Amino acid sequence: MSWKDADAWHEVATASLAEDLPDAAPPSPGQTRTRLTGPALNSRLLVWLAVEHARDGRRAVGAASLRLFDRTGQEHLAEAELHVRPDARRRGTGTRLLSALTTEAVAQGRRSLVVEAPACTPADLFCVRHGFRRALTLHHLLLPLHDVHRGWLDELATGDHPGYRTAEWEGEVPDVLADAFAAAKNAMNDMPVGDLDHGTVGWDADRVRAMAAVVTGRGDTLLTVAALHGDGVAGFTELVLPGGPTAVRAQQYDTVVVPAHRGRGLGVWLKAQMLCRLHDEHPQVVEIETDNAADNVPMLAVNEQLGFRRVRTSHRYQLALTEG
Ligand SMILES: CC(C)(COP(=O)(O)OP(=O)(O)OC[C@H]1O[C@@H](n2cnc3c(N)ncnc32)[C@H](O)[C@@H]1OP(=O)(O)O)[C@@H](O)C(=O)NCCC(=O)NCCS
Repeated sequence: MSWKDADAWHEVATASLAEDLPDAAPPSPGQTRTRLTGPALNSRLLVWLAVEHARDGRRAVGAASLRLFDRTGQEHLAEAELHVRPDARRRGTGTRLLSALTTEAVAQGRRSLVVEAPACTPADLFCVRHGFRRALTLHHLLLPLHDVHRGWLDELATGDHPGYRTAEWEGEVPDVLADAFAAAKNAMNDMPVGDLDHGTVGWDADRVRAMAAVVTGRGDTLLTVAALHGDGVAGFTELVLPGGPTAVRAQQYDTVVVPAHRGRGLGVWLKAQMLCRLHDEHPQVVEIETDNAADNVPMLAVNEQLGFRRVRTSHRYQLALTEG
């Protein structure tokens, strides 16, 4: 895809997001270019633009993408994103884009198509109209960092956890921890995913390195804090600063405590240490965004204890794909 088309895609998507999610921070044009044209980990992205021909020229009115996962355990799955410019809706453009996506997904041997729709928006109705099944409800949360008192955070971050110590790094995991960190990543597979036909993904040291390389390769900063127990990793939390050290909004990536170490306050401890690290090393960051499955009660409890607030809800819908 050319940068000109990527910019047209971006323009449609941001107009659409401004209509349905006016309070959400839109991606920058650079972030959209990188996402549409840059490398991804174990997946390929196909992209569509719907163009309207008028007397005064061409205008992009619809934008869609299809992510095809090729990692073992998720070869059945495709994920779509679909946007129609607000002033061009209800004319069948979304339906035509969806039809192109599903045809391609079937041709690529996929059996499940997943989309995310903001709750209580036209997308909810569109998905139901097209036979999608609602499979997961997600709460989106935001933590305004100025609301978090540093003294209170220090108490949480320095709490006593006998037998555990922490390690932190930026970018790629240190070699000495790579296998143990990959083993802890596998604990993500018991994360609640509702009725989504999500599959399971196996992590090893090479894959965690490759994931860090993709994030840093697109210019983002990846920060990790891990809890160590003997030679093992008992849990970790990851944050990404989109666009690198000047980012003002951080994105939460994975947080996990390995099952054998749960119920000991490690989740709050790790996240509190991450917040202190942000405060010390990246003071320009003013907020962190995350999302949690509505039935992920422990993770929501940890986040809300730290001051995250729910700002909106979305639904993940799934369509069973059939040939013909
Ligand atoms: C969801 C979206 C892509 C639909 O695009 P669109 O071009 O307006 O969709 P269509 O014209 O093909 O609509 C198809 C059907 O969906 C349903 N639908 C779509 N918008 C609707 C609305 N505002 N109210 C009620 N039903 C609606 C209707 O059944 C409609 O058929 P009809 O017009 O014959 O009644 C568009 O609203 C959008 O860009 N939303 C924001 C982006 C988003 O949230 N995407 C999530 C992924 S689906």
